[in-house]
Amino acid sequence: MTTSPTPWWYDAVVYQVYVRSFADGLPSPGDGIGDLPGITSRLPHLRELGVDALWITPFYTSPQKDHGYDVADYSDVDPLFGQLADFDTLLVTAHSLDLRVIVDLVPNHTSDQHAWFRAALAAAPGSPERARYLFREGRGADGSEPPNNWMSIFGGPAWTRLPDGSWYLHLFDSTQPDLDWRNPEVGDMFEGVLRSWLDRGVDGFRVDVAHGLYKEESLRDQVLPEKSAGKQAESMVERVVRDEPMWEQPEVHDVYRRWRRVLDSYDGDRMAVAEAWTQTAESMAEFIRPDELHQAFNFGWLSTPWSAADFAEVITGSIAAVSAAAAAPTWVLSNHDVVRHPTRYGGGPSGLARARAATLAMLALPGSAYLYQGEELGLEQVEVPPEARQDPSWFRTGEPGRDGCRVPLPWSGTAPPYGFGGADGTQPWIPQPEGWGDLTVEAQAADPDSTLAFYRRALATRREVFRGADDTTVAESDGDVLVVRRAGITVVLNAGTYPAALPEGEVLISSGPLPGDVLPPDTAAWIR
Ligand code: NOJ
Repeated sequence: MTTSPTPWWYDAVVYQVYVRSFADGLPSPGDGIGDLPGITSRLPHLRELGVDALWITPFYTSPQKDHGYDVADYSDVDPLFGQLADFDTLLVTAHSLDLRVIVDLVPNHTSDQHAWFRAALAAAPGSPERARYLFREGRGADGSEPPNNWMSIFGGPAWTRLPDGSWYLHLFDSTQPDLDWRNPEVGDMFEGVLRSWLDRGVDGFRVDVAHGLYKEESLRDQVLPEKSAGKQAESMVERVVRDEPMWEQPEVHDVYRRWRRVLDSYDGDRMAVAEAWTQTAESMAEFIRPDELHQAFNFGWLSTPWSAADFAEVITGSIAAVSAAAAAPTWVLSNHDVVRHPTRYGGGPSGLARARAATLAMLALPGSAYLYQGEELGLEQVEVPPEARQDPSWFRTGEPGRDGCRVPLPWSGTAPPYGFGGADGTQPWIPQPEGWGDLTVEAQAADPDSTLAFYRRALATRREVFRGADDTTVAESDGDVLVVRRAGITVVLNAGTYPAALPEGEVLISSGPLPGDVLPPDTAAWIR
């Protein structure tokens, strides 16, 4: 691996692989579900794209009720995805291509099929087996009311009652019981899990629901603002509720201090990035104090509306918040939980133009950027038919859920499964739309104007002009134009509806054509 004075993750571009939907290699020639050998076979795509690392979503033993975020055995591979030996092969191959590998850690909850939860169900109320989770008696004369008013992120109450009358807490699906991190056995178990993957050679961890492990000890009711009282809990992106006894408890930071000591005891720059949907940029920064985790996803950028002033504000605010913690920022526009960004920006040609422009602006910012598989192809959110939907939140709420951003990738050919796997024509686990033939990796690799060609150019140019550059960044809006200055480069993004003037200088790259030397709407450029 190449070494440099700053740790690799500091300004890395990390590509998120959603394992079920990336590439299908098992059992040869494939069952329609992506897996570890599939990822290994497609690592050259990531090398050519020019990313520094990949983050792989959970591939551990799991009944797949939340597609791997319900873990039954944290130290083994689910047979759907391969075996431990397949993971080792993936890791060695990635390292030989100078790609780092980050794995997902899911510490807030286990699957209901985890040995601990099965033991808890078999044991009596009040037993040590139950004390690893949050079991409580119900309210009301016969205990038939849930212990508090918390709602699941996936809809409905956050409590499920057992036949013996006890209730257990699950902030997500009822198959994902929350652990009780106040029980020391839990912390010890996760230190073992961390070590088992570090010993195998992983470069880092993405920490699922990092802000959730501790709940306020009283498990008191949440105080709901008037208008949402009795309604569905907040979504993962738009937080409306401010009193949150289930999130962001101060004790959680001791967990990350312990993990930091473990990470630092290994050679190489092992790291961890928090998925923490915090209420403010300032509380996000608490997760990345020097003795805690290395990075936290900055969801502020992802939630920002299409506006130069808002982009400038989120850039300035994010940089200020993380520098108070002496850390580097991160940026992300899409992931497996949110609507893909071309669709969020309105879809169609202008949605794609905006998406490319936002990506180009993002790639000029200091710190690290996270890409989600398929964004390099300009994929949009897919309207998945109700009978094909699989997201647990769909079953709990009847809302479409997240399947539309998880449709398996199109690699080649003109019809489903577009080279995803399954040479016998086996169809992927979520159906792909007709009409993706022009969006395959194969088709776009041959077209210099494609979104794939644009991403490759942008990542190569980023390496050339920003790697190791001074982080001092000034972001402001000039009317409808976002202007960012960093490392002698001026980045402009036109979020308005009229063409804008292009600054003087050499255009290093633009997200779309620049006819007549002006900056058209929905376009960004880097100027030296
Ligand atoms: C966040 C993950 O990104 C999401 O996919 C999952 O459903 C929840 N955490 C629960 O683990």
